[in-house]
Amino acid sequence: MSKSAEFTKLHVALGERSYDIVIGAGLDSAGLLIAQHLKRKRTFIITDKNVAETQLETFVKRFENAGIEIAQKVVLSPGEETKNFTVVSALVETLLHQGLERSDVIIALGGGVVGDITGFAAAIALRGIAFIQIPTTLLAQVDSSVGGKTGIDTPYGKNTIGAFHQPQLVLIDTNVLDTLPLRELQAGYAEIVKYGAIKDAKFFAWLEANGKQLLSGLEGEKHEFRIEAVIRSCQIKADVVVADEREEGERALLNFGHTFGHALESETGFSNALIHGEGVSIGMAMAARFSAELGFAPKADAERLIAHLKACGLPVHPSDKGPKALDPVRILAHMKHDKKVKDGRITLILLRGIGSAFITREVEEDRLLAFLRNELK
Ligand code: GLY
Repeated sequence: MSKSAEFTKLHVALGERSYDIVIGAGLDSAGLLIAQHLKRKRTFIITDKNVAETQLETFVKRFENAGIEIAQKVVLSPGEETKNFTVVSALVETLLHQGLERSDVIIALGGGVVGDITGFAAAIALRGIAFIQIPTTLLAQVDSSVGGKTGIDTPYGKNTIGAFHQPQLVLIDTNVLDTLPLRELQAGYAEIVKYGAIKDAKFFAWLEANGKQLLSGLEGEKHEFRIEAVIRSCQIKADVVVADEREEGERALLNFGHTFGHALESETGFSNALIHGEGVSIGMAMAARFSAELGFAPKADAERLIAHLKACGLPVHPSDKGPKALDPVRILAHMKHDKKVKDGRITLILLRGIGSAFITREVEEDRLLAFLRNELK
């Protein structure tokens, strides 16, 4: 990690796929930082309608100040429905039509949807070109922009088509969070809590002390805590990705709360009724309760995690948010369709305690179904 007056730089050491994550509050030098990665001073920005209205102009100015020409601004529709083949195909064709070359770098300016789809387009256009992530939601800043997972959804599930394609640079300006609705901030915060829960008890305790200020505190302290939380989250994620880039082992820990959460999201059709971070929050609370019930984690640790999520305004029970009257058999069926199913067995990420998680395929389906019946009654 290195620090300057304007930003903190983390390094993701992946050999020839290595890159930096630059984190600051108000990255006026974003254009100069990007220019260092361009062979010709010409780029393409992919964003969505919401970000185009709030952030695009500021970033375009920063790029133009550094002498970068914007060959094309592609504005996608916001929302998960955009992550499909039709949109990717149109996006790649637009870029090719504008004279995209193999040495060009394209820029994803937006949340997880924009990052995932742009990264996937970059992975397949001209057999792979470079891309830069400028994440504009808290969730994208602490999770999806780092680690090289790119992709789109199919009727068979979220991100069921995709590629590992690492970005060339991740630029995180925490000031963009000022225009983010509180609900979106809370959803991103769930992923921050995840890092403390699975890997770092000290960080979790820090979040217990500072999480509420980070979400809705006074200007000065809010910004200071946000930067700190983003840096610590990105560091944990970078360490995990460096240890296991392709998710052959340890990286699966990052899915804590996601197997339960995705199943709930599926039941809402991945709609606004339950956004991803909310599904993860409920999923983490469920995984914590299940870990305690199976005797893996002390009940007090599960309760501590759930209490903190609740204190930060996040849902912790399936009935708190999203569809009512969920069918445990359907939820189990969704869990069995998860990408992480191996030899027909569901992969669960469970807790040993705050700061320590593990991966298991040993839990019997009957036991899980009984737990789901109890959670959903
Ligand atoms: N969001 C989980 C991962 O990147 O592995």
